[in-house]
Amino acid sequence: AKSAEIKTDVSEVLNISHRGASGHAPEHTILAYQLGEDMQGDYIEIDLQMTKDGELVALHDETLERTTNGTGLVKDYTLAEIKKLDAGSWFNEKYPDKAKKEYVGLTVPTFDEVIEKFGKDNKYYIETKSPEVYPGMEEKLLEKLHKHGLVGKDKEASNAIVQSFSPESLKKMHELDKNVPLVQLLWYEDESKLATITDEELKKYKEYTIGVGMNFAPIDKTYVQKVREHDLEIHPYTVNEKEDMKKLLEWGVTGMFTNFPDRLEEILEES
Ligand code: G3P
Ligand code: CA
Repeated sequence: AKSAEIKTDVSEVLNISHRGASGHAPEHTILAYQLGEDMQGDYIEIDLQMTKDGELVALHDETLERTTNGTGLVKDYTLAEIKKLDAGSWFNEKYPDKAKKEYVGLTVPTFDEVIEKFGKDNKYYIETKSPEVYPGMEEKLLEKLHKHGLVGKDKEASNAIVQSFSPESLKKMHELDKNVPLVQLLWYEDESKLATITDEELKKYKEYTIGVGMNFAPIDKTYVQKVREHDLEIHPYTVNEKEDMKKLLEWGVTGMFTNFPDRLEEILEES
């Protein structure tokens, strides 16, 4: 028999500020994170890279070119060197209609600085990026999560979710500490083809995660419902248009990553 549709409780849907409110301000800067907070985002999404001297910094790319005035690999520079870079001017050049003087000279924040600024009662959705390039990244992150009081007595009481495309990185986190909620990221290369997910895959993810996140374009209602039947969270990325947000909510997603948390907030308020 066909099982009953699993509906979304709109009041529980997670509004995840992707790289901060990065549709409005330069991604992964304190200003972009603050804007995400002001726009009622529930979680601040942080991508992590590691410097030559082992500091965790908030940057999406392994390289510096796209979002700073530096060049080369993050791992080849010390934190002091990274701190000299301008992480905001690129945004003004790329989006002149959204440019602001205050973005000039913004710096790359360390993980510690982000948590110190927004506090342990806030919520963070942290991605271990390129963990194979940064041995020891998981241990370092876990140590910091504990230091900042972001790990609770169980998964529900923890204020940080750790996400990764790397199952190895997540399994390592799972081995190190069972109280950190984990999300497996997935990427479907051919977005013109409908994505499917099997019970076997979902059972495998369920062993170490609370849910999955994937590019939203190739998924459909069947996909979303399948994930929910396994009692897993489903947080598609990166959803920027209101029509897509509405559609995904109707299908039953439990949260989404967006560069425009203000838009998702409006949809959630209307629902
Ligand atoms: O973490 C969810 C989503 O952000 C994954 O893609 O490349 O934006 O980190 P990316
Ligand atoms: Ca990410």
